[in-house]
Amino acid sequence: MRRCVFLLFTWIYTALSAPCIPRDFGNNGTVCVCNATYCDSTPVTEVPDIGFYMHYTSSKDGLRFSTIDGVFNKELPADSNSFQLDFDTTFQPIHGFGGAFTDAATMNIKTLSPDAQENLMRTYFTEEGSNYHFGRVPIGSSDFSTRPYTYDDYEGDVQLEKFSLADEDLLYKIPLMKKAVELNPEIKFFAAAWSAPPWMRTDNNYTGYGFLRKEYYQVYARYHEEFLNKYEDHGLKMWAISAGNEPFYGMLSITYYNSMGWLPRDVGTWIANNLGPTICKSKHSKTLIIGYDDATSGLVSYVNETFSNGLARKYIAGIAIHGYTDTSIPANVLDGVHEDYPEKFLILTEYSNGSPDAETGILALGSWDRGEEYILDIIQNLQNWVTGWVDWNLALNIYGKPNWRGILGDAAVIVNPESDEFYKQPKYYAIAHFSKFIPPGSIRIGLTHGMTSVKAVAFKTLKNETVVVMYNTYLTDQNVTIYDSRRGQISLKLPPKSIHTLIYY
Ligand SMILES: *[C@@H]1O[C@H](CO)[C@@H](O)[C@H](O)[C@H]1NC(C)=O
Ligand SMILES: *[C@@H]1O[C@H](CO)[C@@H](O)[C@H](O)[C@H]1NC(C)=O
Ligand SMILES: *[C@@H]1O[C@H](CO)[C@@H](O)[C@H](O)[C@H]1NC(C)=O
Ligand SMILES: *[C@@H]1O[C@H](CO)[C@@H](O)[C@H](O)[C@H]1NC(C)=O
Ligand SMILES: *[C@@H]1O[C@H](CO)[C@@H](O)[C@H](O)[C@H]1NC(C)=O
Ligand SMILES: *[C@@H]1O[C@H](CO)[C@@H](O)[C@H](O)[C@H]1NC(C)=O
Repeated sequence: MRRCVFLLFTWIYTALSAPCIPRDFGNNGTVCVCNATYCDSTPVTEVPDIGFYMHYTSSKDGLRFSTIDGVFNKELPADSNSFQLDFDTTFQPIHGFGGAFTDAATMNIKTLSPDAQENLMRTYFTEEGSNYHFGRVPIGSSDFSTRPYTYDDYEGDVQLEKFSLADEDLLYKIPLMKKAVELNPEIKFFAAAWSAPPWMRTDNNYTGYGFLRKEYYQVYARYHEEFLNKYEDHGLKMWAISAGNEPFYGMLSITYYNSMGWLPRDVGTWIANNLGPTICKSKHSKTLIIGYDDATSGLVSYVNETFSNGLARKYIAGIAIHGYTDTSIPANVLDGVHEDYPEKFLILTEYSNGSPDAETGILALGSWDRGEEYILDIIQNLQNWVTGWVDWNLALNIYGKPNWRGILGDAAVIVNPESDEFYKQPKYYAIAHFSKFIPPGSIRIGLTHGMTSVKAVAFKTLKNETVVVMYNTYLTDQNVTIYDSRRGQISLKLPPKSIHTLIYY
């Protein structure tokens, strides 16, 4: 009887979903093509009754959120390879997933027609899409801007009287951030400066080997407060601000994109004496301060040295990391930092991969391999106490532009204004297999298994749904059994290079 009701429900589900319109650019994978009138979606499904589950699959072979329902089998686990859920072992609560509202991303999105823009924003910020809950925003320019600038490029303006937002904020970032709030009122934003105004720096530049001059420590704290004021004037509050993007970069003389060096002790002093008290006494006292904001290669000693300043440690709520060295640095450095500072959350604030072909200048659209790197990075971070995962540029164009230093990149969504289309790459689905089903407040739970071919991670949501995400890294089918002592087992054959989300009560 229940089964009949459920089948009817499944039919409704299928009728409402819009399938991927695939296009193959010859790069070992496909994109899904969206335009002003069409975009693939996954409708919000009600999770079925106890004893049933929903199963979503995307794969290198072209499946995109292929959805089937299933019923638990009451048998005991088949073998020691089976995935056993452990609800008594709990790890970190989840803050969420998202992407960055850079100048490049927002300018690109605005090159589409209004209806195509609407579809693009919906595909990221609604439950029929990625269900993103986070947006990162640069304070002033980053390298993914068409020019370097800050909000006060007037030498000696220590009162910040000439502080003003740029056209990039007013025409591109703010309107699209407001649109994101309209689509998901629960979205949280956080911000980071790539550099102080050059006149506050030892090298009077946006790039290169340079540090904040000590006499401007307080001015630069107020510069951050002023940024919060101006964005709030547009109705946009920040959940958190960073002490600065990639502090290591400005300590390297080879650096040629926007960055400012921060020695760990100096940033500790600045947060303790300037940024912390300034934000705390302002009307933005609820805005959190996050520290580090760089690749995990230098994490442990940097955080230790910063936190040797007890006041800085008090002001810093969380430790932001970037994913660029995740395949070379063992992920257990995160466990170490979590053990040493259990009261500080860890959040990944930036990751991206790929760049355009050197000869053609065009991106390898549809590459599944790049999507796979995203999947593995997300799983690795979630397995090691990371509470959120935020992609870099929300969108770029087919040339991976713009970037004022010519350091081009790839993105989960690529826009093509000539045809008024945008392309959802495998990376988009890679993130969405997590972001769509693991809302803020979900808690990671124990999941033991003996398979090396399949990577997996499990959560319990605030609605008591169980969510398991698995990836078959092999080029052959893999048989897996998921065992939940309360419900029974699920046996599945995972196709080569496929990602799966299971959800059930
Ligand atoms: C496609 O895959 C083959 C085999 O792995 C590889 O040699 C080739 O470089 C890939 N092509 C692209 C564009 O990624
Ligand atoms: C938009 O995409 C849909 C689905 O692929 C297609 O039917 C329609 O013709 C496209 N519209 C334009 C203007 O290309
Ligand atoms: C700023 O640094 C870049 C190299 O990163 C250099 O080319 C440029 O000349 C510098 N500008 C000034 C004003 O020093
Ligand atoms: C970091 O600090 C913790 C706690 O004080 C200590 O156990 C650890 O050895 C330190 N690590 C480094 C690399 O300094
Ligand atoms: C989730 O389960 C717990 C106990 O298992 C219960 O107290 C709580 O009310 C449930 N929450 C929802 C939203 O069903
Ligand atoms: C996977 O299970 C199927 C039956 O569902 C079986 O035919 C196949 O041999 C199994 N594959 C492996 C590698 O065990």
